[in-house]
Amino acid sequence: MAGKILVTGGMGYIGSHTVVELQQSGYQVVILDNLSNSEQGILDLITRVAGVKPEFVQLDMQNRERLEGFFREHHDLEGVIHFAAYKAVGESVENPLMYYRNNVGSLVNLLDCMTDSPAAKNLVFSSSCTVYGQPDTLPVSEDAPVKPAMSPYGNTKQISEEIIEDTCQANGGLEAISLRYFNPIGAHESGLLGELPLGVPNNLVPFITQTAIGKRAQLTVFGKDYDTPDGTCIRDYIHVSDLARAHVVALERLLAKQHQKSHEIFNLGTGTGYSVLEAVNTFEQTTRVKLNWKFSDRRPGDVEKVWADTGTANKVLGWKAERGLKEMMSTAWQWEVNLNDGLMD
Ligand code: NAD
Ligand code: UFG
Repeated sequence: MAGKILVTGGMGYIGSHTVVELQQSGYQVVILDNLSNSEQGILDLITRVAGVKPEFVQLDMQNRERLEGFFREHHDLEGVIHFAAYKAVGESVENPLMYYRNNVGSLVNLLDCMTDSPAAKNLVFSSSCTVYGQPDTLPVSEDAPVKPAMSPYGNTKQISEEIIEDTCQANGGLEAISLRYFNPIGAHESGLLGELPLGVPNNLVPFITQTAIGKRAQLTVFGKDYDTPDGTCIRDYIHVSDLARAHVVALERLLAKQHQKSHEIFNLGTGTGYSVLEAVNTFEQTTRVKLNWKFSDRRPGDVEKVWADTGTANKVLGWKAERGLKEMMSTAWQWEVNLNDGLMD
């Protein structure tokens, strides 16, 4: 049996898929989550998919004392994958302190506990391609400059990477890999795990599936005059299960001490960009469901086009995304259908 891994935010969208991947790779998993953006019922679904029930501790990582208590009771951890954070860009503009307090504060608490604890000091961190802003060259590689953040949320990711870098340099023994995700979409092939957006979704794919199922009247495509072949924005969409697998690979790189620096950074994308209209068309073709959609003005703050140079992740990490846009759309749709049929009720 492989070691015990802490997954913070493990009840959330990407975390729950990663917990399953870890369990299927033989790891024991402890989930730490305050359920601020997830539901208790996810634990049973993870157990159904993986066949093993992870340990679950409901805890707010902003509560330093409780986190210290958790680490005193879990001194045998071999690694930590840190997903817990808030992620809504618009909300971060309205309430920046809430984002700095949670995303940066929780990370500082975690690093304090990890550096003080006898537990192993291996950390995998959820970062984002938002750190590149609109890159000067595409595809964008890890050594491209980090641009001024376009939102407080984006800034929390930049600051978090810097805090991890400084902590690794400070001889605290921390070994870390930051993973810069492009656009995670799709759901588990079982149809039992997926994204649970609270309220009106901000992101494209949940909005597409909710429109298709009849929860939303119409999808709005933001902007048709971008400098792209069809005038709509281009993103590098990546299946959440490919992303989850990359976390296990990154963790195992740290556990096997194969990393070349105490803080490494990798892009996680497919390397292919698709426009909003290509995403809409692929959804319609794959599911045979017609979408009601219209164009409107550009959404403020949107990057025109971004896709990943995945060469380093492919060569150095030895990981490659395997699933294409059709599978991303069909699994996202199956998840929406299952939710509509009462999966989480
Ligand atoms: P999510 O909201 O589904 O999951 C995050 C989980 O963390 C939730 O279950 C939430 O309850 C928990 N959480 C939040 N604050 C907490 C706290 N203080 N203490 C304990 N638990 C807390 O989000 P996700 O899409 O799974 O994203 C996971 C990570 O990946 C986040 O750090 C996010 O910023 C990052 N990321 C996500 C995307 C994306 O498009 N989904 C893109 C880039 C980066
Ligand atoms: N879009 C629409 N209509 C919608 C929603 C989105 O046309 O209803 C468009 C957007 O304008 C954009 C594309 O679909 O062109 C993708 O938008 P998303 O909101 O799905 O994703 P973003 O690329 O804007 O944001 C995502 C994450 C952020 C992260 C960012 C960069 O949600 O957390 O990638 O990593 F900061």
